[in-house]
Amino acid sequence: MRSKVTIVGAGNVGATAAQRVFDRGYADVVLVDIVEGLPQGKALDMLESGPVLGSDALAFGSNGYGDTAGSDVVVVTSGIARKPGMSRDDLLLTNMRIVSSVVEEVAGHSPGCILLVVTNPLDAMAQRAYELSGFPKNRVVGMAGILDTARFRSFVAAELNVSVDAVSAFVLGGHGDTMVPVIGSAFVGGTPLSKLLPSERIDEIVQRTRDGGAEIVNLLKTGSAFYAPSAAIAQMVESILFDKKEILPCTAYLEGEYGIDGLYVGVPVKLGAGGVEEIIEFDLTEDEDAALRRSAAAVRELVDVMARASEAN
Ligand code: LAC
Repeated sequence: MRSKVTIVGAGNVGATAAQRVFDRGYADVVLVDIVEGLPQGKALDMLESGPVLGSDALAFGSNGYGDTAGSDVVVVTSGIARKPGMSRDDLLLTNMRIVSSVVEEVAGHSPGCILLVVTNPLDAMAQRAYELSGFPKNRVVGMAGILDTARFRSFVAAELNVSVDAVSAFVLGGHGDTMVPVIGSAFVGGTPLSKLLPSERIDEIVQRTRDGGAEIVNLLKTGSAFYAPSAAIAQMVESILFDKKEILPCTAYLEGEYGIDGLYVGVPVKLGAGGVEEIIEFDLTEDEDAALRRSAAAVRELVDVMARASEAN
């Protein structure tokens, strides 16, 4: 039997993620959006690509959650996106309200699902989803680290004129200006990156990675990135549905790991059928450890703002 994946939000990120999952044919896809006709139209168009692509999966769109019942994975992409000049954090309270209403529906209709949160500001939204869903921490996970790491790997591969496959790396921390590329974990064909590039050049690549989302927002002007984010979503969905247990940088709930407690932050995790099956603790340098804690503090500030806003309502 095929798995069932629901994607909430039929904008660029959600629809492209739905397409990537549908194209591979292993899961039926339900696309949900509040805009009438949008998820239905995109899902029907996707379904009609099946004969050409060889996908027997079903795709359907809906403005409600009835059709999503019993999903194995639910991906939450709904929310407003950044415009030039905005930070991800500027989206906080608007997207908190959107994500809250979505999560309540999802938890009611698919109580056994793994919830994959994508809406920005990502770490804070994952925290909100965890608190509202009542799900165990392993079944609520956020997508950001794979995207940030993919940007870093792309830049390194281009710089050294090697295949992206040859570049392994991990970008940890919150999905924001404080993200932490762990240079000690970056290798090119087994050689440490620090042996291949001068530290000033690595610093420039790190900065471009941190600004990677804004670079695309500034080019597109009316929205944010979606090809790389949707590819990262598809990788996570596959690792879960096929119980691949890939070690991937994801936003996960920490309870003491890396000295961080009670907070969603990007760390390496083992992602399988159980969702976040293990948090992998890397050896970090003192600087990296301090940077990760600063990043966690930035996420904590957003979580506190959300808590105050919820109390005020
Ligand atoms: C980015 C947005 C989606 O990093 O957060 O492109």
